[in-house]
Amino acid sequence: MRAIDAIKLDDPSFLLPSPHAEMAALRREAPVAYDARTDAWVVSSYESVSFALRHPEIFVSGRGVSVQERKLGTDGPVHGGDFMLATDAPRHTELRAAAQPGYVQPRIRAWEDRLRARIVAAIDALPAGEVLDAHTRIAKTLAIASVCDYLGIPEHDVPWVDELTSVWSPEHTQWSGVSVTDYPEGTLERYFAVLLEERAAAPADDVLTIIAGGRGASLSLRAKLMLCIDLVVAGNEPLAAGISGGLHALAEHPDAFARLQREPELIPTAVNELLRRVTPIPYMCRTTASDVELEGQLIPAGSFVYLLYSSANHDEDVWGKPYELDVARSDAGKLLSFGRGAHTCIGAPLVRLVYRILLEQLTSRFAALEMGGDVRIVTGVHMPHLGFLPLVLVPASPAHRDTP
Ligand code: HEM
Repeated sequence: MRAIDAIKLDDPSFLLPSPHAEMAALRREAPVAYDARTDAWVVSSYESVSFALRHPEIFVSGRGVSVQERKLGTDGPVHGGDFMLATDAPRHTELRAAAQPGYVQPRIRAWEDRLRARIVAAIDALPAGEVLDAHTRIAKTLAIASVCDYLGIPEHDVPWVDELTSVWSPEHTQWSGVSVTDYPEGTLERYFAVLLEERAAAPADDVLTIIAGGRGASLSLRAKLMLCIDLVVAGNEPLAAGISGGLHALAEHPDAFARLQREPELIPTAVNELLRRVTPIPYMCRTTASDVELEGQLIPAGSFVYLLYSSANHDEDVWGKPYELDVARSDAGKLLSFGRGAHTCIGAPLVRLVYRILLEQLTSRFAALEMGGDVRIVTGVHMPHLGFLPLVLVPASPAHRDTP
């Protein structure tokens, strides 16, 4: 059997859990391979995935970046060209410029103290020494709370926004309107339309204000709504998946957790390493705008292409011992978990900050993380991830407690 025949990216269960052996075989045999069954190309080596990301003029996003969007089967840009993830320059540049100022390092740093207080409060509320579902109680809680807080969503709306985010459908991008009442009540669109109107009238220090006014001012209401939704939908689930996957890895590698206790300066590196191993978004898709030769293969114009970030993140040609957790891995920053180039994750600085503070707190307050049962993996809205992570936060002896 050829390696490509074992790759079934159109079947969600294929990624449960990560099919490392199949992807390694594909990298060895055919790092750029045509899959006749799905009429798509699969790119699996670090070098080829990086090449594709560096050439968004060839590997375009506007025809869809997911299997679901491929099925929309439109001739023009999917979602009417308003959903940033699935747009190309010059439209993409314009949309990104409207949200990016909110996600630059200095702004994120200024938010750090408020975020730390939130994370400390969330951890204070956890029962030490008992089995708890760390996916729900830590990862999901912190992911939605931090994304919403940073955007400027009031705290009392967070559970509701979380619920709507998990049932939001790309079909909603067909909705169009110029005023608040053009959008159905009880939807994320209506909710954000109201908030944006409020921020335009009374600016605050948040990302919603940046989208409502500033560089976002010239965008249509529909485009602004898509930006807000892009941020919560693109941010919430991957962040939760990244955290629970990382906590699981640390619980299974007590030596790594202990090393971070002894050498907390390694925590930023550990964050990259955990996100490399987990790769919460295992692949994204593109369509070729012209013929392109990659690893000796000619991919014709108009081809649907899978870029396997997860495989690239475990490519033996780039990473020494890629399946090992090495919290001191010196080149962990090369990870492709946030993509690269024009569409690089806009929320990456926020993710790194949330994750760093969380690890600082856990390593300084608890003696260890221990598994308290079997994990459960769920298909998820966008990707498979841990849906249940039974964990024990082992209390530290009083002498060890040294909260930063
Ligand atoms: C661990 C958590 C996260 C991971 C692994 C992740 C991963 C990614 C990846 C791989 C892309 C590139 C998609 C592509 O190549 O087509 C991306 C784009 C994006 N991410 Fe994230 N993301 C995370 C969290 C967040 C958060 C918290 C936010 C917002 C608050 C966010 C907002 C976005 C947006 C808006 C884009 C689209 C950027 C563009 O198209 O120019 N992400 N993310």
